[in-house]
Amino acid sequence: MFKTIEPLLNINWMTMFATEYATTYWIWNEFPSKEGKKSFELTPDGLHFHSFTCPKTVKYGFKRCHSWLHSASNSTFSSIKRQTTKQKEMLPLNVLVTGGAGYIGGTVAMLLQEAGHHVVIYDNLIHSQRSALPAGPFFVEGDVRDQAKLEATLQGQKIEAVLHFAALIEAGESMQEPIVYFNNNTASTLGLFQAMQSAGVQKLVFSSTAAVYGEPETTPIQEDADLCPTNPYGESKLLVEQILPWLHRIHGLRYASLRYFNVAGAMAGRGEAHEPESHLIPLILDVALGRKKNIRIYGTDYPTPDGTCIRDYIHVRDLAEAHLMALAALDQPHRPGRMIYNLGNGRGFSVCEVVESARRVTGHAIPVEEVPRRPGDPAVLVASSEKIQRELGWKPRYTNLDEIIASAWEWHQQRYPLATP
Ligand SMILES: NC(=O)c1ccc[n+]([C@@H]2O[C@H](COP(=O)([O-])OP(=O)(O)OC[C@H]3O[C@@H](n4cnc5c(N)ncnc54)[C@H](O)[C@@H]3O)[C@@H](O)[C@H]2O)c1
Repeated sequence: MFKTIEPLLNINWMTMFATEYATTYWIWNEFPSKEGKKSFELTPDGLHFHSFTCPKTVKYGFKRCHSWLHSASNSTFSSIKRQTTKQKEMLPLNVLVTGGAGYIGGTVAMLLQEAGHHVVIYDNLIHSQRSALPAGPFFVEGDVRDQAKLEATLQGQKIEAVLHFAALIEAGESMQEPIVYFNNNTASTLGLFQAMQSAGVQKLVFSSTAAVYGEPETTPIQEDADLCPTNPYGESKLLVEQILPWLHRIHGLRYASLRYFNVAGAMAGRGEAHEPESHLIPLILDVALGRKKNIRIYGTDYPTPDGTCIRDYIHVRDLAEAHLMALAALDQPHRPGRMIYNLGNGRGFSVCEVVESARRVTGHAIPVEEVPRRPGDPAVLVASSEKIQRELGWKPRYTNLDEIIASAWEWHQQRYPLATP
């Protein structure tokens, strides 16, 4: 049907294509190109090109694609074109996703699977449920601390790269249970590295965190800022980051350590649900749904304009795409084998501003309760993601907080339909 890739990038042609064929909601097609057979995928999130072929020719599943395609403006297609031309082609890999039953790991696993990689999820389900596993990937129920099982999985599944999300993630809890955090997040990761070395796995994408910075002296925070965590959670991640350069130098491990700021939002039926929940946006949405009476604001005396903490919110889709880019970069020998990148939007919102945004999006009053500060919470954490934008061409698409909260709200209402007042 298609002779070259160029017609796909022609906006008029795209519009025509969308009108005629988009009734199938999610479209995957293949076409010959100068570089061989390629595929493209048209989803509610955009147009994606792949250098491999898809086992099925058409995928279904996203209800609103048709209307999205009709309403998409030329600038949407231009931005899609910019993004897709930056995507580097790579062969499918066998990848292990630890923590892939969780919020972020599950989203990344889903995108990896869609991109044609063979995905194996490894999770002990301590903070997630089997029902939250994305469809498609092979699942191994196991603890990262079980080195023998991990090694058998790496070898048995012929794993070529690991994306390591499994961790305990609550800064507040880590102030009460530091040993649990160092054991689960640091000691276990050392075991993972040992297993990777035994199985000859040389590529790693590591989930790090803005909590490695502590109280930054300047904002937005750049990757070379001082690293002084204010809680054991941040320290448990920083310790791993300090091990990585040695493994790169001595064993040739190629790694990307991605320091996430506050991840939020939902996509393709996956949203933020931690057990127990400690993150601001889902907690606020619980209040909007009537599942909670009010939202607690921890500290109104911080040195910020309204006295509440300021954080940088990044949409989970943007974050997940950065992982695919980092993995592709690890696969390119000309790229450095050690990368550290911040992932955030570059704009901070105070707790009060997030509550206001949620009031606008949901139309609910959302009462608040002001309580004293929690130990270990820095006043301001805002990222500079200029480095990953410059070096890998990543760019966040969701820069508007209302938009991020709207996607979370839509998913939240589906997850708890009976609670909707
Ligand atoms: N959510 C955020 O805003 C945020 C911000 C910065 C960094 N991070 C990092 O991102 C990663 C994923 O976070 P998330 O929000 O998806 O959390 P999550 O709790 O939803 O997912 C973590 C998953 O890891 C699993 N897990 C924990 N310990 C394990 C172990 N020892 N063995 C096997 N599985 C184990 C849990 O069962 C869970 O499924 C974490 O490493 C976290 O530190 C998250």
